[in-house]
Amino acid sequence: MSPYAHITGWGMAVPERVLTNAELSLMVETSDEWIFSRTGIRERHIADPEQTTASLAVEASLEALRIARLKPADLDLIIVATSSPEHIFPATACLVQDRIGATKAGAFDLLAACSGFIYGLNMATQAISSGSVHTALVIGAETLSRLVDWKDRNTCILFGDGAGAFVLQAAEERAGVLSAVMRSDGSGSDLLTLPGGGSRFPTTIDTVTQGLHYVQMNGREVFRFATRVMSQSTQEAVAKAGLRLEDIQLVIPHQANQRIIDAVGKRVGIDPARVFVNVHRYGNMSAATVPVALVEALEEGRVKPGATLLLPAFGAGLSWCAHVVRWGERTTPLGTSDLELPPCERTGLELVNDLRARRALYHQAAAPFIEAARHLLDGPAA
Ligand code: ACO
Repeated sequence: MSPYAHITGWGMAVPERVLTNAELSLMVETSDEWIFSRTGIRERHIADPEQTTASLAVEASLEALRIARLKPADLDLIIVATSSPEHIFPATACLVQDRIGATKAGAFDLLAACSGFIYGLNMATQAISSGSVHTALVIGAETLSRLVDWKDRNTCILFGDGAGAFVLQAAEERAGVLSAVMRSDGSGSDLLTLPGGGSRFPTTIDTVTQGLHYVQMNGREVFRFATRVMSQSTQEAVAKAGLRLEDIQLVIPHQANQRIIDAVGKRVGIDPARVFVNVHRYGNMSAATVPVALVEALEEGRVKPGATLLLPAFGAGLSWCAHVVRWGERTTPLGTSDLELPPCERTGLELVNDLRARRALYHQAAAPFIEAARHLLDGPAA
């Protein structure tokens, strides 16, 4: 019989520094009232200059391995789901593999935006069920603060930084991912995109001056899409697992917007008491939202032994998914963690102001060169 993939370790890492809505309103024309009433977000965490997507992923992973009481060398596979990788290549997963010392693991990145961690959970489960992998680490990690335009109030209010990591191990008893729905629709790719810096629009002075290296979003359309597909995929995943909605003890949805979560709950008919929400504390950490929420749900005792969970998400691509997951018998750590984040001297506001100041300085310094380059390019050919 094919083995099941049990979740045996979990960990999260969020930067110490927080940026509140009130602080954001000092940068762009907005208010705590506007942001909270439209999104449910009160604050988000911002990486300090020393922190990166890989470093947050490493912290979360070491915690997850400790909780599973495993060594990094026990891992066969590492998947990092991220939309803010350290580089286009090499994969952030390889950087994590090296830093934790997972000497026997294959590693790759998975790009499915906010759906990425849940996609990754199913990919690792399939690898374990096939028998080719025994122990896998699935990570959702982001430093979106580096990719948003802090002058664009449509997007900069939404996103935050963080990471969550889960260890999956082969086991005989029926648990882990029971059903998986994974979908995409690239015809909506322009609704949520970071267009520059890839092979379509390689970085040039023009892509930078046009801001193509920042997240761009049509919020209203994404909102409509999200409520529709999260509702559909939720119902489909539950039916595929041979269950009814009443059998789900806890829903841990992608945390993009409280209104989307409420609208889906209402449409599908799920009691809000059975939905875990922490978007007010972190904003949208893309691929990291579901793993971080799941870790917090475990720590708060909301995930009981043998519980049936539902994890729905949506994101850029467009992509969406929903999995039904049966938790195993253990909801407490096997090993304890002595990890401590290095202290950060600066506030969240200072960190973001520093990012903005460095970008402004760059544009100021680059302006004469851009002008000269334009002059050359527009001039008569030699
Ligand atoms: N503060 C104050 N006013 C604002 C702000 C702001 N931060 N942002 C926009 N506004 C203004 C707009 O300019 C607009 O003004 P106008 O009517 O004069 O033109 C007005 O508020 C309404 O704007 P809408 O875009 O219609 O606002 P909406 O109610 O749709 O809320 C929001 C915007 C919160 C972005 C919502 O559309 C949303 O949450 N969409 C989903 C976004 C999402 O989940 N994205 C993540 C996807 S996951 C991933 O893959 C990364």
